[in-house]
Order: sequence, then C-alpha cells, then structure tokens
Amino acid sequence: MQKKAVVITASDSASRGEREDISGSEAAAMLKEAGYNVFGKIVLPDSQERLEAMLISLADRRQADLIVTTGGTGFSVRDVTPEATIAVCDRLCPGIPEAIRAYSMTITKRAMLSRAAAGIRKRTLIVNLPGSPKAVRESLEYILPELEHGLKILSGESTNCAR
Ligand code: MTE
Repeated sequence: MQKKAVVITASDSASRGEREDISGSEAAAMLKEAGYNVFGKIVLPDSQERLEAMLISLADRRQADLIVTTGGTGFSVRDVTPEATIAVCDRLCPGIPEAIRAYSMTITKRAMLSRAAAGIRKRTLIVNLPGSPKAVRESLEYILPELEHGLKILSGESTNCAR
C-alpha cells in the first residue's frame, strides 16, 4: 500500500519567510519520486514545543506513516529537533541515524556534528535529517531503499525479513 509521508522543516528563518525552504522541497521531491504520497510539507520555527505538538498530532491522527524532519540537528542552542523527536517517540531507532552518519562521513567528516535521531510513535516512523539540501539528498538516497521494508513491518503488511 502507498505510504503517506509528511516533511517538517525546522528553521526559524524559513518559518519567518526570510528564506526559501529548499531542503523541505528537496525531501518532498525525493519521497514522491520513491513512491510516497507526500501529504504535507510544513515549516516550523526551532521550537521544541511546536515540533512536539506537530509530531504528536500527525502520528496520533494517523496522518503519516513516515515523518521526515530537516534541520535543527546541530549544535546551535536553537537546534532542538532531536530532543522533540526523542520526547514523543515510544521506541527509538538508533540504526537509522547511525547509518546516515556512517554513510555521510564518507562524504564529509562534518556529518559527525549532526545529532539527528529517529524513532517510532505508534505507527509512525520519524526520521531527523540535517538542514542543508545537500545533507538531505545524501541522507535520503542512502536510507530510502531500506525504509520501505521497515515501514511494511511497522504497518503489519510484512512480518519478516525474507527478501
Ligand atoms: N550530512 C551530510 N550527509 N552532508 C552534509 O553536508 N553537514 C553536517 C551534518 N551532516 C552534512 C551532514 C553539518 S555541517 C552540520 S552542522 C550538521 O549536519 C547539523 O546540521 P543542521 O544543524 O542543519 O541540522
């Protein structure tokens, strides 16, 4: 079954309309290309409270099988996307950000500076990506082929790892 995806960009400047949300558009385009129904693209300020409220609302109303966030994973005091994600998840999926960082480190050692997390709330998988369009492309190209299998297990469509 086609999976529903929502992209959330965490960025103070994009939420104020001071810059275009290129990273969110890039993530949405890649998800569409991979066959997802991209149900929404949302821009929020770097506010843990606002991010948590949006993640909870989307997951609890079953509006997304997958939520991809971009931005707010670095060291700035305003970077709170991983904290919001971890706070709302029932179960963490550390393998996904581990994989993103491991692959990204072959491209730039600065990948070690992303604190991105991933986890599951109810039947929704939430994956954080860094904020630059380049990082979004590099991260998604690596994980998208494997996410599909995880989402099938999460939805109950598939029960095992036989290929
Ligand atoms: N990952 C990939 N694949 N490519 C990149 O260019 N940039 C890094 C890192 N991860 C990067 C990357 C940099 S420079 C930073 S500061 C962190 O992501 C955090 O980014 P964020 O604060 O925009 O979330």
